[in-house]
Amino acid sequence: MKAKKILLGLAAGAVALTLAACSGGRGGGDEAAEGENKGALVGIAMPTQQSERWIADGENVKKSLEKLGYKTDLQYANDDIPTQVSQIENMISKGAKALVIASIDGTTLTDVLETAKAQDIPVIAYDRLINGSPNVDYYTTFDNYQVGVQQATSLLTGMGVLTEDGKDNPDAKKEYNVELFAGSPDDNNAKFFWDGAIDTLQPYMDKGVIKVPSKQTEFEQAAILRWLPETAQKRMENLLQLDGDTKLDGVLSPYDGLSIGIISALTSGGYEKNALPTITGQDAEVGSVKSIIAGEQYSSIYKDTRALGDQAVKMVDAVLNGKEPEVNNTKDYDNGEKVVPSYLLDSVIVTKDNYQKILVDSGYYSEDDLK
Ligand code: GAL
Repeated sequence: MKAKKILLGLAAGAVALTLAACSGGRGGGDEAAEGENKGALVGIAMPTQQSERWIADGENVKKSLEKLGYKTDLQYANDDIPTQVSQIENMISKGAKALVIASIDGTTLTDVLETAKAQDIPVIAYDRLINGSPNVDYYTTFDNYQVGVQQATSLLTGMGVLTEDGKDNPDAKKEYNVELFAGSPDDNNAKFFWDGAIDTLQPYMDKGVIKVPSKQTEFEQAAILRWLPETAQKRMENLLQLDGDTKLDGVLSPYDGLSIGIISALTSGGYEKNALPTITGQDAEVGSVKSIIAGEQYSSIYKDTRALGDQAVKMVDAVLNGKEPEVNNTKDYDNGEKVVPSYLLDSVIVTKDNYQKILVDSGYYSEDDLK
């Protein structure tokens, strides 16, 4: 019996080697041995528990993998790069057969991914692209450029530059004062959000309809390292100083956490809670949806993390079973070493008008969650 198993194993190995040689791809060895990875350990590396979304992401991926019979090792790195590196090293030494990684800094995992590669462990980049390493097999995320377009579009609608149906508003004012924020410069997504938003706002900036009183219109000036709310709050406080008496009509914020910091700065800087500028966001986190319902934050971008989790799990299950995961983008996500085959999901603008339909009716949140 035992001998038979070994023989079968050898045969599977030979097939695997042949397939790997043919495809020239990585991970081919293990993947081809169908069934061999049943019940395998999968490492899930998440950046932080400071934000609800990553907690939900981690839990979703873990649950769905376990439903398929995999074992999981879910770790959060407290936004600390060395912690994330050592967590991934541990996953590899515990025998993980695949890794799902939402990186903190997309450029700091090159060495640990070398180790993964040496052991033929496939790597799925989760939501954030891992840069500078050839050892990233697949990537799943949302259409990040489009997220930026949606943020800017909702800013324009909220301020009244555009009407609800996206047309130029005949009753618009001549000028709108807007300050701009960007995400963490070490997160590949941040530049995509920014580019989508700025491409959308630029025509209005060129016409002088949108003015940036601080003149801080470069990504580097607007970026908030590690997406920290308190850093955004400080920057907003500084901007209010710079802007003097100019009343703001809008603030482009790329993430709910930053919006919370921005709102704190604005309210302590003299804005009434019911007369805040139009403020955008992202992730539709509970606290921020409540703020939208209360009429403080104007919009957020809903990214169904359940769907993202499912996509990552499908990718893991495919590679561990010798199959090609489904992708729908093979051009936009160049990590400096290769274009990583990606699966992009769609996002939705959420405001007070549609949160019920988008967030509650879909079961993402219950009524009670938002009370
Ligand atoms: C980005 C992610 C956003 C937001 C942000 C801060 O990478 O795409 O949805 O969560 O990180 O956590």
